[in-house]
Amino acid sequence: MIEFKSVTKQYQGGQPAVDQLTMSISPGSITVFVGPSGCGKTTSLRMINRMVEPTSGVITVGGKDVTSVPAPELRRSMGYVMQSSGLLPHRSVLDNIATVPRLNGVSKSEARKRAAELLDVVGLASALGKRYPSQLSGGQQQRVGVARALAADPPVLLMDEPFSAVDPVVRDELQQELLRLQKDLAKTIVFVTHDIDEATVLGDKVAVFATGGKLAQYATAEEILRAPANDFVASFVGRDRGFRHLGFTASDGVAVHQVPTVVRSPGGAFESEPGRGWQLVVDEAGRPLGWTGPGSGTGIIPGGSLFKPGESLRRALDAALSSPSGLGVAVDSEGRVLGVVRGGEVLALIEEARQVRQAAL
Ligand SMILES: Nc1ncnc2c1ncn2[C@@H]1O[C@H](COP(=O)(O)OP(=O)(O)O)[C@@H](O)[C@H]1O
Ligand SMILES: [Mg+2]
Repeated sequence: MIEFKSVTKQYQGGQPAVDQLTMSISPGSITVFVGPSGCGKTTSLRMINRMVEPTSGVITVGGKDVTSVPAPELRRSMGYVMQSSGLLPHRSVLDNIATVPRLNGVSKSEARKRAAELLDVVGLASALGKRYPSQLSGGQQQRVGVARALAADPPVLLMDEPFSAVDPVVRDELQQELLRLQKDLAKTIVFVTHDIDEATVLGDKVAVFATGGKLAQYATAEEILRAPANDFVASFVGRDRGFRHLGFTASDGVAVHQVPTVVRSPGGAFESEPGRGWQLVVDEAGRPLGWTGPGSGTGIIPGGSLFKPGESLRRALDAALSSPSGLGVAVDSEGRVLGVVRGGEVLALIEEARQVRQAAL
């Protein structure tokens, strides 16, 4: 059982990122945090394993205040999967999976043996164990990320938009795989997503967060769909219900805008222009690698799903919603950047399509 008791997180000089969060998460279940970008999902998740410390309030796991456990120890006792697989590029897949058991003092041969078993558990061929992360597809990398998080057999698994950067078909596969795994594993999983579809597919319970870090509703998916607690939840859910049939509506009318890009050299260096806002980092062939943004320093922030003009509005919207900049990246058939789509403009087209559809009914 994970409990939040009046937990608030306020970063310097801002509105609360998380505001008086009180909720209990049942063991052995999947709890999903869902909500628009910036509503405090990641911050809430990271307070569970003390990657972020609350400003006030208490979090307990199994009845024990998390601050009573040294942070590194606590972190190793919980699996963590994020949007970019976070794999170490110069280590083989097997060694990546074995990282935490090794830190916990398990012998190299024992850790590798367990890692090989885990490859199978997450549905990867054993031959992939010797490869390096860059030699795997995005979906395969996320599977390795899940295997790595499971390696120390932690009772708690924290997952922050783990499937957001893969395309929707692979995302569906990964969701089904996670449900299949969970049947056997019965871990306590806290899963963050911006996608209400994903939340309703995966969550035993769903926590809808509203802007300002407030918990708007915490209930089963069925209840949230049937009886949204307030206008915010109704519009968040309803908007998405409106999307559902848009899977087949072509995105032909969506404007693709220019975006400032910076090229990363093969050595890994790139120079962003300070004060320019969000800039897209691309490789020398013009394929997107991620974003550099206000305050992101020298790192690349992983981007969201990609979108090819002509695909559905749903995919255009997903690209925008899953992107840290709020701009969805459009690519050509070779995967090179064409420009960006704006979430607001995609939404306007969706609204238009909905009205046309309604008029036709
Ligand atoms: N390290 C940080 N410093 C300052 N503000 C932050 C930091 N991390 C997150 N925030 C702010 O806190 C709010 C919640 O962020 P986050 O938890 O990342 O939201 P979500 O995961 O729902 O998109 C946002 O307004 C964000 O800008
Ligand atoms: Mg987040």
